[in-house]
Amino acid sequence: MNDAARTPAGGGGTPEVTATIAGLRSRIADARAGGASVAFVPTMGALHDGHLALVARARELADVVVVSIFVNPLQFGPGEDLERYPRTLDADVAALTGTGAAFVFAPTVAEMYPDGPAATRVVAGEVGGLYEGASRPGHFDGMLTVVAKLLNIVQPDAVVFGQKDAQQVFLVRRMVRDLDLPVAVEVVETVRESDGLALSSRNRFLGDAERRTALVLSEALSAAADAAGDGAPEALAEAVAAFGDHDGAELDYFVIVDPATFLPVADDATGPALALVAARVGATRLIDNRRVVLG
Ligand code: PAF
Repeated sequence: MNDAARTPAGGGGTPEVTATIAGLRSRIADARAGGASVAFVPTMGALHDGHLALVARARELADVVVVSIFVNPLQFGPGEDLERYPRTLDADVAALTGTGAAFVFAPTVAEMYPDGPAATRVVAGEVGGLYEGASRPGHFDGMLTVVAKLLNIVQPDAVVFGQKDAQQVFLVRRMVRDLDLPVAVEVVETVRESDGLALSSRNRFLGDAERRTALVLSEALSAAADAAGDGAPEALAEAVAAFGDHDGAELDYFVIVDPATFLPVADDATGPALALVAARVGATRLIDNRRVVLG
């Protein structure tokens, strides 16, 4: 860790906010000239403790931490919650104050897409069309496209993502390998409320009753983990049964995948696997996941 580079670049105070690519690049160039390493946390804002855990990890990894806050229209489909998605820049900057984040990159849509929606896109491939991608066509192409753009803008040594978006993590790792992007991908465990609810920017949309209903996601994952020793079909059956106990939660998918391929495991699979769940609670779509060991 290079303290000389860290302090002038933001230290523990309020991060410097920049809305332009040129402005961010010049600040990062200055930090690099001082010998600093750079870690990057891409976000869509509405920051919560899960994001702050990513920043804390980024701070461990590099001298200078850059956080982007950009609600990327490319990854929202028609009828999704692009307009409703919370935009809370002032609160986000306040939340980042004292975390060691040096720079917040908060561009406008016009700054990121000056010629309109990007004509050139990253294509997520087969896994990009499954699970989240099946429910949200084009989502992962849009996500990978903006992540590629952000990585080109920031050019960090490391980029930090949360395990809650497991399919996103898988696809970003794949993109980094496929395109030989010179960045280390770091993943931080999901941060949960004490009752198990995974932190999400969308949790703020939940009313009190919906908040209780939303626990079905982590409960279904626990049920699957408990039954996993009996095999994938049993684990899936227990998870789906957990949804039967909760009115108001509409299951989108529950699937157990091979972490190496992200394809569904065979019925007789054994060993480590990843259970993924998505459900709609009221008007809010939530996702979660958990590692399980199939017996
Ligand atoms: O996980 C998110 O918040 C977004 O998908 C990301 C990675 C910031 C890209 O817009």
